[in-house]
Amino acid sequence: MKILAVESSCDETAVAVVEDGRRVLSDKIASQADMHALYGGVVPEIASRKHVEVIAALADEALKEAGVARGEIGAVAVTYAPGLIGAVLVGVNFAKAAAYALGIPLIPVHHVRGHIAANYIAFPELEPPFLALAISGGNTLIVDVKDYTDLEVIGATRDDAAGECFDKAARVLGLPYPGGAPMDALAQQGTAGTYDLPRAHVSGSDFDMSFSGLKTAVVNLAHNAAQTGRELDRASLALDFTNAVSDMLVPRAMAAAQRCGRATVVAAGGVAANSIIRADLQRACQEQGYRLYVPPLSLCGDNGAMIGAQGYYEFRAGRCAGTDLNAFATLDIAAG
Ligand code: KG4
Repeated sequence: MKILAVESSCDETAVAVVEDGRRVLSDKIASQADMHALYGGVVPEIASRKHVEVIAALADEALKEAGVARGEIGAVAVTYAPGLIGAVLVGVNFAKAAAYALGIPLIPVHHVRGHIAANYIAFPELEPPFLALAISGGNTLIVDVKDYTDLEVIGATRDDAAGECFDKAARVLGLPYPGGAPMDALAQQGTAGTYDLPRAHVSGSDFDMSFSGLKTAVVNLAHNAAQTGRELDRASLALDFTNAVSDMLVPRAMAAAQRCGRATVVAAGGVAANSIIRADLQRACQEQGYRLYVPPLSLCGDNGAMIGAQGYYEFRAGRCAGTDLNAFATLDIAAG
């Protein structure tokens, strides 16, 4: 079945055509990042307005590139949660109208389920169960993926998402938005151990995480340097920061895999593009005997193909929506 997949939860408008959950026929992305960079972060109203402007033309482009006529599309899948509500609403409304006009099913997809499903596209042999570390700009979750549509949260951030923390730290280091990739590049020139940064432990939980203390520590170091006129070793701070984030993520993911009895670990989301986190996961999995799947960089960030992949499995599980489908800013991945 060919699915037209729509994603608009943040600052990327994306439409893809995906066949049977695994074969990407087209994957069009219109990023607004340059525009939001002017403000140092995503401006929600601008995001919604840009989605409105480009979404229909992007869908036409996706169909054209796939070489698929509208009549050949079997269903429309769409991110309906979580995300910036005004942004998500644009995609939901467009997908609803498309499904209504074509007389085909509408499939609601949880955005983070989509991030995890990006791995189904990259790795044809991958099937649940596995342990997923989903790390993006808005979400940080350790998830037991028991089956394609049966997921349980094992751990979550109690405050900021890992990507949000990267973006804030990058900003105080004078790097452009989104800050994850520039931080990654800067960290390559750093010397580890220059700055002593905190690794939070969330009391009462082995798997939950907290990034706000780390973010504040970096902000304070930068402000302190500016006030006292002392030079900041930006590259080393970027490296120590990334190591601290990785130290909070990787050991928890490994412990969760062990607790859940999974032999496979899967990374997902924009922060999974980070070279240090990827290397740490690789090393941990190798040492402890787990199989690791990490998507190629092109499938780490927001895209439509991942929504088409997960949408296929949601459809197979009978999870279709009516024309009363709404969008949600937050939603438990287990309920999604
Ligand atoms: O998955 P994504 O595109 O959007 C959400 O679903 O939230 O993730 C975007 C996040 C941003 O915070 C961005 O700075 C971060 O992913 N990111 C990175 C890297 N590339 C993107 N963070 C760390 N290292 C990277 N190389």
